[in-house]
Amino acid sequence: MTVKDYIDTNDFTKEELLDMIELAISLKAMIKANRYPQLLKDKTLGMIFQQVSTRTRISFETAMTDLGGHAQFYGPGTIQLGGHETIEDSARVMGSLVDILMARVDRHIDVANLAKYSAAPVINGMSELNHPTQELGDLLTMIENLPAGKKIEDCKLAFIGDATQVCVSLMFICSKMGMDFVQFGPKGHQITDGGLQVGNKIDLLAIGQKNCEVSGGTITISDDIESIKNADFVYTDVWYGLYDEEESGTSYMDIFYPKYQVTPELMALAGPDAKFMHCLPATRGEEVVDEVMDGKNSLCWIEAENRKHSIRAILAYLCPVAPEDTAAADKAEARANAVLAKIGK
Ligand code: CP
Repeated sequence: MTVKDYIDTNDFTKEELLDMIELAISLKAMIKANRYPQLLKDKTLGMIFQQVSTRTRISFETAMTDLGGHAQFYGPGTIQLGGHETIEDSARVMGSLVDILMARVDRHIDVANLAKYSAAPVINGMSELNHPTQELGDLLTMIENLPAGKKIEDCKLAFIGDATQVCVSLMFICSKMGMDFVQFGPKGHQITDGGLQVGNKIDLLAIGQKNCEVSGGTITISDDIESIKNADFVYTDVWYGLYDEEESGTSYMDIFYPKYQVTPELMALAGPDAKFMHCLPATRGEEVVDEVMDGKNSLCWIEAENRKHSIRAILAYLCPVAPEDTAAADKAEARANAVLAKIGK
């Protein structure tokens, strides 16, 4: 393993990401069979959340417990991060106090700097730029629900709506796997416009296209609904998210509704067997209607559960576990026992 941190799936090869998926699938099956491998026994995960979270927080915490470890939650305003203590100093300290860190941050640069200065591995639990743990969970969900006779590289995913960080992440993972990725979204909210990534000055499409050169995948960005035809997976995200600033004088409903709402008619246009996905939380009645979310082709509940299974694999893959140094441990234990005996313990 050459990469210490999990900040961006583009830091990993397709093979490494598929190894994580294989680990996720096998750990999921083991734990469903009531065998809990203590891969992270006595290890501590520090969880930094600068925004709210349901799925990500619960998945990380449960995953650590499942593997024999423990998770500490640091909610907004509960630790000295980004106040008068710099991110770099906090990273040095926290990286020496826990075995592994995860962070959901306001600014991508902060999770990148945590990773740079922390001795412990750092996992990106979502920034305004990308959502790489969601990506791996979504890849797991697609691989578990492949259309008959297809491999993952044969599949097409159509993302409907705004170029959120989840949309960008899907472009990354689909292009890495060699899939056909489509963003069907309005001009001004397409990956090529910057979307939520305004100010980052990162050519996101160029990263995806570079992946495609290796994998044989394709990327299409369009406001033409015909672009979603023959999609195996139809994915959407909220139209107004954590990192959005509403455009002055324009409601996001005016921009996206009704053209980009995922309805049974839109699903039928994608194809009769197209599966529906959503990272959640959803705003029912806006980006998706109840009939689709609760319909027979909806994978969104399996997808939410798969956050935990995939996060287990990321933790097991990254968290350092060294064998016991028995001689050093015996010597140190004898010293501790001498003090304890002296004080009558
Ligand atoms: N999909 C997702 O990241 O959900 P939470 O914001 O609840 O963690």
